Amino acid sequence: MDIAVIGTGYVGLVSGVCFAEVGNNVICVDYDEQKIEKLQNLISPIYEPGIEQLMEKNLNAGRLAFTSDLAQAISQSELIIIAVGTPSLPNGEANLAYIEQAAMEIGKAMNSYKIIATKSTVPVGTNEHIQMIIAMNTLQSFDVVSIPEFLREGSAIDDTLHPDRIVLGIENPSLAAPLTELHRSFTDQIFVTSIRSAEMIKYASNAFLATKISFINEISNICEKVGADVTEVAKGMGQDKRIGSSFLSAGIGYGGSCFPKDTDALIQIAGNVDYEFQLLKSVVEVNKSQRYKVISKLEASLGPLSGKSIGIWGLSFKPNTDDIRYAPSIEIVETLIRAGARLKLYDPIAMEKFRERIDHPAIQWCENALEAATGSDAICLLTDWEEFKVVPLSQLIFVMEQPILIDGRNVFSKEQVQGTGLKYYSVGRPD
Ligand code: UGA
Repeated sequence: MDIAVIGTGYVGLVSGVCFAEVGNNVICVDYDEQKIEKLQNLISPIYEPGIEQLMEKNLNAGRLAFTSDLAQAISQSELIIIAVGTPSLPNGEANLAYIEQAAMEIGKAMNSYKIIATKSTVPVGTNEHIQMIIAMNTLQSFDVVSIPEFLREGSAIDDTLHPDRIVLGIENPSLAAPLTELHRSFTDQIFVTSIRSAEMIKYASNAFLATKISFINEISNICEKVGADVTEVAKGMGQDKRIGSSFLSAGIGYGGSCFPKDTDALIQIAGNVDYEFQLLKSVVEVNKSQRYKVISKLEASLGPLSGKSIGIWGLSFKPNTDDIRYAPSIEIVETLIRAGARLKLYDPIAMEKFRERIDHPAIQWCENALEAATGSDAICLLTDWEEFKVVPLSQLIFVMEQPILIDGRNVFSKEQVQGTGLKYYSVGRPD
């Protein structure tokens, strides 16, 4: 199929590259000419393992191209995918300005029948709105469909090439067969549904995963008080197929560009139809307070934090990404600065982005995990990067001022810490 993808962020770029990888002709469009120039030179604007190799392979095979010429891309394509951002407005609602702009431009550029698929996460009813905007700008016939995206940063390519399921929100039944065929190279698990259900499936899935995380985080807080071990509890729970073992890792809470934004948006969507989503509101509240457990643990072991030197391992909201959007590290670092601590920060790849967001004389930027530990009164591990799992823990006692390790992601086992001389505190596990 000839496909145009509008927006070269995570969803757009990864989808475009993966559609090309399975044999389609894909043209990725972005209004940002500098970004397009970089992409043409095989430089990805996002950090995602494996993306540049796939870009190169498909560009060389002639199946993938990048342009800032939207009209040209639309005229040569049968399927137009909208994958522009829907950031949060201050009240939590999704900002649809980029979507509306894209719909208007698509309408203006259409020269024949097109299928327009929305991959951006949009509130229920938005695709009808998109349909209206396009219709106001064209006399051509077209169909709008909703194909929500479920990829995760850091494993986006694998998630796209081998998804658990594809959801096709379709109103025109004649589109079910060609769109199923298009996605069959990825999986046979294809669920055709109404557009409104497809829009809701995306929000409900992210909200449910966020709920699992806040649930296990609350269980971990209780475990700490009753002397149980949350990793054992999660394992025992997860063996029940009805519960499932994933997204039951306790820690400092979820961050990223999706869960915080989509939970807020779903609360707003419910509120707009006079429904108070009480459960999800609690999920969000639990998540906001969970990150401060790190601070309480630091204070419990060090007393007042003013003048103390704290090493921070990990700043990105999760491993394998340089994304710091809504990362728990932001509020943790800001709180520690306010408390008068001196900080030694290290992250394998997210330091530059973090520095653009927060730079302060109390921060020292380090080149590796050991440097961040050197001279520190405590280390806080905030992101579960593989690199931290292999730090020789027994060396820490020789370089740290006080040998305190607060493991915010339960990366280390008791056995790994035993005999290292470290005072080790994790989440929801006996000290
Ligand atoms: C999430 C969803 O997992 C994807 O399915 C979805 O497509 C995407 O949002 C989106 O809407 O675009 P992502 O935000 O990339 O993907 O990251 P996740 O792997 O889901 O992790 C989110 C956060 O939850 C991270 O901060 C992670 O550390 C935290 N987490 C995850 C936990 O604290 N515990 C867990 O057990 C799992």
